Amino acid sequence: MRRKVSVIGAGNVGATTAQLVVQSGIADVVLFDVVDGMPQGKSLDIAEACPLWNSPSTIIGTQNYADTEDSAIVVITAGFARKPGMSRNDLLHANAGIIKEVCTEIATTSPNALVIVVTNPMDVMAHLAWKTTEFSCKRVMGMGGLLDASRLRTFLSLELHVSPEDIEALVLGGHGDDMVPLSRFITVKGIQITELLPKKKIDALIERTRNGGAEIVSLLKSGSAYYAPAAATFQMIRSILLDEKRMLPCAVYLNGEYGAKDIYMGVPVVLGKEGVEKIVEIKFTKEERAHFRKSCLSVRKMVEKLSI
Ligand code: NAI
Repeated sequence: MRRKVSVIGAGNVGATTAQLVVQSGIADVVLFDVVDGMPQGKSLDIAEACPLWNSPSTIIGTQNYADTEDSAIVVITAGFARKPGMSRNDLLHANAGIIKEVCTEIATTSPNALVIVVTNPMDVMAHLAWKTTEFSCKRVMGMGGLLDASRLRTFLSLELHVSPEDIEALVLGGHGDDMVPLSRFITVKGIQITELLPKKKIDALIERTRNGGAEIVSLLKSGSAYYAPAAATFQMIRSILLDEKRMLPCAVYLNGEYGAKDIYMGVPVVLGKEGVEKIVEIKFTKEERAHFRKSCLSVRKMVEKLSI
C-alpha cells in the first residue's frame, strides 16, 4: 500500500514538492492550504498529469486537517516567503504563529508522522515544530543544507564543465547567512577541489552559495526559490519512504553532538524509515568550529526571541 505524504502549504515549494512525489509514484499526497480552492485546483491539475507520467499515485487538495490523518510524512511549507532585501530571519514572528498552528493540528491527526520543516527561518521553525508536536526529535527535521550543497555543486559544475553528479559538497550549520560550507569536503569524483580550482575561485563560489537564495529572490522580484528547494525536500522524503539510508545534510536536534546542545542545526545524518537514524559527526578544524559556533549563535538568538 502506498503511504500518505501531506504537504501543508500549497504555494510554490509545497505544490512543486507534491508534484515530485506524485510523479515518482512512491506515495499518495494530500495538499493542504488555507486558501479556498487553491490546493484543490493544483491537486486536480497534478492528478490529470498522472496518466502521462504513468504514476499510480493519487493527490487531493483540502482545507481540512482530517484529510491528512495518519500521514507517514508531513512536509511543512506553510508561511511567508521573503521579499527582495529581506533575510530569512525577518520571517521569524510571522511564520512562528503559522508553524504552531500547523503543528498543533498534525500532532493529533498524524501522531506517528515524520515531519520535514521547510518554512523559514528553517532551523528555528524545526525547533518550534519539535516542541509543539512533542514528537521524538528523530521524527522532526528541517531541509536546508541539502539545498545549499546542491547550489554549490551547481556553481562548481558550471565553472568546471563537469556533471554535477560527480561533484560532492557539504554545507552545514544554520540555513541562513552564517551557513558553513566546508571547502575541505568538496570533491570531484574523489579529487579535492583545490587540485582543480584556485582558492580565490572556490571562495567566490562559496560566497555565491551563501547568497544563493537572495540571488533568486532579487531576480524573481516576488517570491523565492522553489524548484531546487522542492527537489531537496523530495530527496529527503524518498530516503525515508524507501528506507534508502542516504547520508544527507539536514537540520536536526543536537544534544551535545558537534559541541552544541538543545538546538537544531544542519549536520550530516542518515535518513531512513525511522527518520534521523544517525547523526554523523566529523572533526572540525579550529576555523570550521568557530564558524559553526557563530552559526549556532545566530540560530540560538532567534530561538530565544520566541522563548521556545
Ligand atoms: P508561498 O507563498 O508560495 O506559499 C506559502 C503557502 O503557505 C501559501 O499558499 C499560503 O496560503 C500558505 N499558508 C499560509 N498560512 C498557512 C497556514 N496557517 N496553514 C496552511 N497554509 C498556510 O511560499 P513558498 O515559496 O512556497 O515558501 C514557503 C516557505 O518555505 C517560506 O517560508 C520560504 O521562506 C521557505 N523556503 C525555505 C527553503 C529552505 O531551504 N528551507 C527554501 C525555499 C523556501
